[in-house]
Amino acid sequence: MKNVVLLGSTGSIGTSTLKVVEDLLGHLRLIGLAAGNNVDLLLEQARKHSPATLSISDPAKAKQLQDALGTGTRVYAGDEGLIKLATLPEADIVLIAIVGTAGLQPALAAIRAGKDIAVASKEILVMAGEIVMAEAKKHGVRVLAVDSEHSAIFQCLDDKPASSVRNLWLTASGGPFRDKAQWPKEKFNEITVERALKHPSWVMGRKITIDSATLFNKGLEMIEARWLFDIEMARVQVVVHPQSIVHSMVEFVDGSIIAQMSTPDMCLPIQYALTYPERVGSDRVQTNFAKIGSLTFEEPDTERFPALKLARRAGEVGGTLPAVLNAANEVAVEAFCKRQIGFPQITTTVARVMEHHKVIAHPTLAQILEADTWARAEAARA
Ligand SMILES: NC(=O)c1ccc[n+]([C@@H]2O[C@H](COP(=O)([O-])OP(=O)(O)OC[C@H]3O[C@@H](n4cnc5c(N)ncnc54)[C@H](OP(=O)(O)O)[C@@H]3O)[C@@H](O)[C@H]2O)c1
Repeated sequence: MKNVVLLGSTGSIGTSTLKVVEDLLGHLRLIGLAAGNNVDLLLEQARKHSPATLSISDPAKAKQLQDALGTGTRVYAGDEGLIKLATLPEADIVLIAIVGTAGLQPALAAIRAGKDIAVASKEILVMAGEIVMAEAKKHGVRVLAVDSEHSAIFQCLDDKPASSVRNLWLTASGGPFRDKAQWPKEKFNEITVERALKHPSWVMGRKITIDSATLFNKGLEMIEARWLFDIEMARVQVVVHPQSIVHSMVEFVDGSIIAQMSTPDMCLPIQYALTYPERVGSDRVQTNFAKIGSLTFEEPDTERFPALKLARRAGEVGGTLPAVLNAANEVAVEAFCKRQIGFPQITTTVARVMEHHKVIAHPTLAQILEADTWARAEAARA
């Protein structure tokens, strides 16, 4: 039985994780849940799963939870609450599914407390992948991927060293604006928030859905792969695969390519991360190739979606530049969602902020956080 702490339980990954825990009751036990603002859903989850410890951003909401649940449950608040949960002595694994970079400090705290971490929040690895992976090595803990692409690569690699890899192939659905005839670059100005939020194959949180429309999501994933698998950016490739059945592939030095496939359902990579190294039986995900019919692949269009080029540059240059790309993108996505900027300006904002940044190589955590703050302020400037 593994004791699981889940940070970000009220989000898309969080609620899928709770389904996995319900599927595997004899294997997984939830001991801690943390959320941002959604006190009603967190309370409902706490009543159903009875974790001993909870945390929520706002102290007033923490009090509300404590009053509703009584003294049998410990309730914490804010950033300190996330750290408390991430370091619970009974925890075996901490799944981090908080959108954005708020999960970075809890991730480092969990690693330093000797916990394996399962990372959905790719922003953490984009921002501070070098530090996170070095800390994990130092403390002898695993950093397991929850992103479906990275879970696929992890499964395909099967412990083979980076020296046996020619290329990692990340698949991308291409997002809602993949069709060039329907969405030429000149029409990108007309893209509304509602339209960008309609993803063709996945139902996800708001930020990652917009990132999938700009292809920044794939760009972030390229940098995430670079750190998770300790491989240089030149060997991280992207191919568009609209059916989202092949979740990613590894091309080995002998030319053999291994892919991991299934109908798209985040419960599968979540389950694999939580039960690794075991494979535990579950009927949740079924794949019928005869019904799927065909799988297609195409080159990504970096002219309409420059996010991929920006991310490749950030990953290649390294240092503080990936953190800057990530922070500028977060601010620009938020501004787009508030209708303050248009869809094409998400990418132009990120490019402008990256252009103005003075990169620090092999930065400390403090320097990364400083670069993140600088990039947010720079991105917010009209
Ligand atoms: N969704 C997917 O299919 C998918 C796939 C791969 C990777 N990911 C990655 O997983 C992460 C989460 O994505 P998502 O789609 O699940 O996002 P989401 O639906 O927007 O959920 C975000 C979660 O983070 C919580 N949160 C936000 N700020 C917090 C804070 N300061 N303290 C504690 N909790 C906080 C939210 O709480 P409240 O709702 O209570 O405010 C919510 O539970 C992202 O990094 C994303 O890139 C997602």
